[in-house]
Amino acid sequence: MEIQKLILAVILVLFIPRSVSFTPMDNYLLNCGSQSNVSLFNRLFMGDSTKPGLDFLSADKSIELTSQNPPPNSSALYHTARVFTSKSSYRFSMKKNGTHFIRFHFSPFSARGFNLKSAKFSVLVNGISLPSNFQLSNDTVLKEYILKIDSNVLDIVFKPVGDSGFGFVNAMEIFTAPVDFILDYGARLVTPNGVEEYRNLSSQVLETIYRINVGGIKLTPFNDTLWRTWIPDEDYLVFKAAAKRAVSTHTPNYQKGGASPEIAPDNVYMTAQEMNRQSNSLYSRFNITWNFPVAAHDARYLVRLHFCDIVSTALNLLYFDVYINGCSAYKDLDLSSLTIHMLASPVYVDFVVDSGNSGVIQISVGPSDLSSSMRINAILNGAEIMKMTNVMNSHGMARKKKLWVLVGSIVGGVVVLLAIVALLLALKCRKKKPKQRMAESVGWTPLRVFGASTHSRMSEGTAYASPGSNGYFGLKRPFADIQLATNNFDKDLIIGSGGFGLVFKGVLKDNMKVAVKRGMPGSRQGLPEFHTEITVLSKIRHRHLVSLVGYCEENSEMILVYEYMEKGPLKKHLYGSPGLSPLSWKQRLEICIGAARGLHYLHTGFAQGIIHRDIKSTNILLDENYVAKVADFGLSRSGPCLNETHVSTGVKGSFGYLDPEYFRRQQLTDKSDVYSFGVVLFEVLCARSAVDTQLDREQVNLAEWALEWQKKGMLEQIIDPHLVGQIKPSSLKKFGETAEKCLAEYSVDRPTMGDVLWNLEYALQLQESGRQRETHADGNDNESVVVSPTIVPQIPTNNVRAEGEDDNGSLDISTSRVFSQLMTNEGR
Ligand SMILES: *[C@@H]1O[C@H](CO)[C@@H](O)[C@H](O)[C@H]1NC(C)=O
Ligand SMILES: *[C@@H]1O[C@H](CO)[C@@H](O)[C@H](O)[C@H]1NC(C)=O
Ligand SMILES: *[C@@H]1O[C@H](CO)[C@@H](O)[C@H](O)[C@H]1NC(C)=O
Ligand SMILES: *[C@@H]1O[C@H](CO)[C@@H](O)[C@H](O)[C@H]1NC(C)=O
Ligand SMILES: *[C@@H]1O[C@H](CO)[C@@H](O)[C@H](O)[C@H]1NC(C)=O
Ligand SMILES: *[C@@H]1O[C@H](CO)[C@@H](O)[C@H](O)[C@H]1NC(C)=O
Ligand SMILES: *[C@@H]1O[C@H](CO)[C@@H](O)[C@H](O)[C@H]1NC(C)=O
Repeated sequence: MEIQKLILAVILVLFIPRSVSFTPMDNYLLNCGSQSNVSLFNRLFMGDSTKPGLDFLSADKSIELTSQNPPPNSSALYHTARVFTSKSSYRFSMKKNGTHFIRFHFSPFSARGFNLKSAKFSVLVNGISLPSNFQLSNDTVLKEYILKIDSNVLDIVFKPVGDSGFGFVNAMEIFTAPVDFILDYGARLVTPNGVEEYRNLSSQVLETIYRINVGGIKLTPFNDTLWRTWIPDEDYLVFKAAAKRAVSTHTPNYQKGGASPEIAPDNVYMTAQEMNRQSNSLYSRFNITWNFPVAAHDARYLVRLHFCDIVSTALNLLYFDVYINGCSAYKDLDLSSLTIHMLASPVYVDFVVDSGNSGVIQISVGPSDLSSSMRINAILNGAEIMKMTNVMNSHGMARKKKLWVLVGSIVGGVVVLLAIVALLLALKCRKKKPKQRMAESVGWTPLRVFGASTHSRMSEGTAYASPGSNGYFGLKRPFADIQLATNNFDKDLIIGSGGFGLVFKGVLKDNMKVAVKRGMPGSRQGLPEFHTEITVLSKIRHRHLVSLVGYCEENSEMILVYEYMEKGPLKKHLYGSPGLSPLSWKQRLEICIGAARGLHYLHTGFAQGIIHRDIKSTNILLDENYVAKVADFGLSRSGPCLNETHVSTGVKGSFGYLDPEYFRRQQLTDKSDVYSFGVVLFEVLCARSAVDTQLDREQVNLAEWALEWQKKGMLEQIIDPHLVGQIKPSSLKKFGETAEKCLAEYSVDRPTMGDVLWNLEYALQLQESGRQRETHADGNDNESVVVSPTIVPQIPTNNVRAEGEDDNGSLDISTSRVFSQLMTNEGR
């Protein structure tokens, strides 16, 4: 409880106070060529011919011009202008060094012989030529520059160009940008040869070319935290039918390390375009592409893309790729990993690209290879395109960096904070009485995720590909059938309960015994896990994996129907249930082997492999013949693809079983399951829980404690008293070594599940073997090869099939091996 409060506090602290609006240190708003103060979008522009305004005009040779017949409905700001017939300047004293916004308003009109449309001039800002040789079109133009001003004064010089030339300006804004508005690290230089880090972005002068509220409406300075204008994206969509607007009604979950409300206003993050997947092409992969015309000569651009996952129902579901000008700019972007694991958290990513002579900046988003076929999608919430002018002679300061280093750089702060949280957790757990499953209950997901994800879009079913009329793989069951099977959820049939809801024993019409897991009616809590479990389990049939035989999503019910597992969770048979007779060593080995087989299949049986993420003795269930099956795939997810070594993701899992490397680095591999399985092995041997706070401090954590004894070569000292005298020393030795390897600190040092399986088989062989092998079997591996009969360690990834499966690769489930994972409060 205490830990949860602590985490809650930490997370709350991370939220940026949102009510405080931004007040720039330096803030000059001038209505030029006028004596009157004019208000526009609630901001007061001071007349530069007023007493205080005149102070800004230093070297001034200018004329005040007023439009005789200003267009109706145009702002008074544009009814006057200051005209410069020779070099003239404004001087402002600056309070703060750093990045500033400078905006020039140009709205040409004709008066007193000046046709402002024919003006031709340059503007210099502290010697930097901003609009140079500037010539206007007919309309009002706003030129915005973002640049660093490290000086106590700011000189803005207007300089006519050519003999008959003159310059003018209607209004000016100069104000300090929020701190860290332009960061010097973390930008991604996108080239045809790959992505590099781009440094020192803040020393560039940026000129805004486009500011787009993707999927949204036009936002005026009135609605924007920095008085910007954002325009809709539709005109730039290359293929309009590819995109569909997504709208959220909730304000975004701003987080430190992500975007702040100053980076872009709420409205930008509350709308997006997502893939428009028609029902007939749910699985097709395509890009959403926007083309933004730019000058046709080669120039460098900053492309700032804004994201906020308002379309997913859970974290780590949305994976997509970003392309700029046809080059891969961000592969497998997982927005959940860029924030503190909360949906609808705004982030932005800066890209630096060269336009070449194409005259266009093309932005595409499309599904990543990592996204499973059920969750193909890609989104974009906002885009800004700014032309970069390098005036500080800091020529192309890109530094080669590995891609993965870049991924985290924007959110460096977040990572540090996560580390702190992790550290606090670890400390607390060592010193105080930790709660089991703590990591899960505080695991960054629950706090606001579900609240934030229960938008109306959930019922629209956009986040998941809608299954066909029979549901996923024909497993959909009518609610009435389930009512019948459970005698309308008869209390006497309850066999378990957990955070998720209740588990009932039931009998289907065809006399098949089942376990019916029913989410709390009306509660959408756990919906992501619900869907994960359906999508994962419906694809899988294996003797050592619990089979899903149906599900029901009617009447806002979340019901999963599994095969019934007569003997319940393995844990119950190890400790804590005095009535049950203890398992023999051989039974325990067979159960471990079965579970290892199931896991091995999970890891290797699919193209990408599936990582379970929550291996523990409560998730290994036993059927009436004590055949072990792995259950509870609510947390499982697809593994990394071939060319990647890990999946970066939020830490989930159960305390005491959690891979320390995964916890530290948040990089999920199938070796995290191997670690957890190692804990289970010691649990099986010692018949005690993974974390037992009643014990002395050095004994609290089973993995640490058992490893100590294993390293001392005295493992037999701590085995389950029921096993004493039963285990042959060679078998124990092999078993202990296997568990030890599973618990290696670094995942690279851990064996694969295939190796674990092989070694457990060998331990069983040693136990069974009539000969007194143990006198020789001192870890000699040559010997093990001889005696290991059945398992080939490297099973090819295709066509993996366990015994007991029929030719279709599907298990005959009518033999009623069953499940009920929620036998204790520790269940979900
Ligand atoms: C215009 O605004 C300035 C600065 O706020 C103020 O000093 C001045 O008196 C105002 N002038 C008029 C005419 O309101
Ligand atoms: C001025 O604005 C009003 C109200 O928004 C509108 O009805 C009118 O047509 C506008 N006039 C012109 C010339 O745009
Ligand atoms: C500006 O307006 C004039 C007449 O009103 C028109 O002939 C000219 O094409 C316009 N120029 C631009 C760049 O729109
Ligand atoms: C800004 O930087 C300049 C030059 O580095 C320095 O002279 C000046 O004192 C700084 N101003 C402030 C307010 O820090
Ligand atoms: C923009 O601000 C105006 C004035 O407060 C408000 O009426 C309008 O709803 C706002 N629009 C958005 C999209 O927030
Ligand atoms: C998306 O666009 C990129 C760059 O043009 C291209 O390489 C990729 O194949 C496209 N993806 C799909 C699914 O069309
Ligand atoms: C970035 O700027 C800093 C100081 O402004 C400078 O020391 C550093 O060398 C620059 N980095 C690169 C890569 O140019």
